[in-house]
Amino acid sequence: MRISSRFIYFFGALGGMLFGYDFGVISGTLHFLDKNLRVTENSLQEGFVAAAVLIGAGIGAIAVGKAADLVGRKKLLIASSIIFCIGALLSGFAFDAFYIVAARILLGLAIGSVSALVPMYLSELAPTSSRGSIAFLNQLMIVLGILLSYVVNFLLVRIGSPEWNTQWGWRFALGGAVIPGFVMLLGSLLLPESPRFLVRIGDLDSARAVLTNLRPVSEVDEEIDVIKANIKTKFGSFKDIFSRFVRPALFVGAGLAFFQQFMGCNIVVYYAPKVLEVAGFNDLNQRLVAIGIGIFNVIATIIAIAIVDKINRRTLLTIGGIVMGISVGVIAWVDYNISGSTVSITEQVVISIMLILYILAFGITWGGTMWVVLGEIFPLHVRGLGVGIASMVNWLANFLVVLLFPVLLGTLGNNKYWIFIGIGLFCLLGVVFVRTVAFETRGLSLEEIETNLQKKAMK
Ligand code: BGC
Repeated sequence: MRISSRFIYFFGALGGMLFGYDFGVISGTLHFLDKNLRVTENSLQEGFVAAAVLIGAGIGAIAVGKAADLVGRKKLLIASSIIFCIGALLSGFAFDAFYIVAARILLGLAIGSVSALVPMYLSELAPTSSRGSIAFLNQLMIVLGILLSYVVNFLLVRIGSPEWNTQWGWRFALGGAVIPGFVMLLGSLLLPESPRFLVRIGDLDSARAVLTNLRPVSEVDEEIDVIKANIKTKFGSFKDIFSRFVRPALFVGAGLAFFQQFMGCNIVVYYAPKVLEVAGFNDLNQRLVAIGIGIFNVIATIIAIAIVDKINRRTLLTIGGIVMGISVGVIAWVDYNISGSTVSITEQVVISIMLILYILAFGITWGGTMWVVLGEIFPLHVRGLGVGIASMVNWLANFLVVLLFPVLLGTLGNNKYWIFIGIGLFCLLGVVFVRTVAFETRGLSLEEIETNLQKKAMK
C-alpha cells in the first residue's frame, strides 16, 4: 500500500502530543486528584504522583533506546502507544494513591520511549534538506499537546463544580489521553519501518520501498548505497557508546539535553501560573496568561519549522540562549525591585512581556532544536542507545528542576529573584557549551555526520 509522506510524518510525530498533553494536564488536575484519593496524607506519595511520570520516562527512554537498535523503531512505537493507552485508562480509573503512582510510572515509560523514538525516527526518514523542519514536527506535537491540556484544565474549572471535579473531572482529563493514544496506535500500525534500520539489518528491498514513498525515485538507490557503505557494525553495545568515535556525540547530546531543562523552560511552561501568582496576578489572569504562553509556544514552533533548515543549528541555539538569558535577567531585576507584597501594573506587564519573549525564544530555538540534534548526531549502530541516554538525561534534569523549583520558592521567600539569576546563568553556560563543544549538523546527511565523527576519532 502506498502511504503519503504527510501521513508518515504526521503519525511519526504524534507521539510528541502524548508527551505534551499528559505533562501539561497533571498541573491542572493534581489538586482535585489529591483531594479525591487523599494523596496528600502522605507527602512522599504526593511528590511521587507528580514525579512518577518523569521517573518512568527516564527509564523508558534508556530502555527503548537499546531495544530500538535491536528490533527497529516501528514495533516500539506500537508498543509505546499500547502502554500509553493502558496507563491513561488506569490513571482515569485510579482508586487509591498507590494505583495512581503505578499508572503514572507506566505512562512515563511510554512517554520516555516516544521522546527517544520520535526524533530519531523522523530524522531517519527525512531528506537532508528538510530534516530540521520534519524532525521539528515532534516539538509541534509536544506544544499542541500542552496547549490542549491547558484548555482542558481551563474548561474543567469553568464548567465543573469543585465537587464534580474532585470526583470526576480529573478522571476525564487524565483518562481522556487514551484518545490521542489510540489514534497514535492506529497510525503507527500503518507506519513503515525506518529505512536506515532496514538497511542495517540487510532488508534492502523493504528499505527501497519505504524510500520510494518519500523521495524522487532517481535518488533512492544512491541513498541506500550511501547508508550501506557507512555500516561497519551491525549492533552497537554500551561499550561502543563510550568509544572514542561516539563519545563526542554522547557529550553533545547529553549536554544539550541537560541545558535545555536547566535553562528553565519548564519553570515557564508548567509553573507559569505559580510564577505569576508569586508576582501578584489573580487566578483568572494566571490561567489566561498560561494559555497565552501555550499559544506563543505553538506560534514560535511554527516559525521555527519555517526557518530551521535555513539557519545553522548552533546559531539558533546561541541566539535563543542569549534572548532567554536576557528575559529571565529582566524578570530577576523586576523581582528584586518589587517593594513589599504589592506588585504594580507596570511590573506585572514587564514580567508578562518577558515571559512571552522567553517562550518565543525557547520555542524557536532550544525547544525543538535540541530534539532535532539528538536525532542527528549519533552513528547508526548506536543511534537508539545514544538518543535514549541523552533523552534520559533530559528527563532526569526535568525531574530535578521540577523538584527544586517549589522548594527554592519556599525557602528563598522574598529573595526568589535568585532563581531567575540561576536560570540566567544556565542560559549563559548553555551558550558557551554550544559555542565550544557542539558541532554543526545542518545540511549534512546522517552518514556525513557519522563520517565526520569517525575522522575526528582517527586524528
Ligand atoms: C522540552 C520539554 C518542554 C517542552 C515545552 C520540550 O522540548 O523537552 O521539557 O516541556 O519542550 O515546550
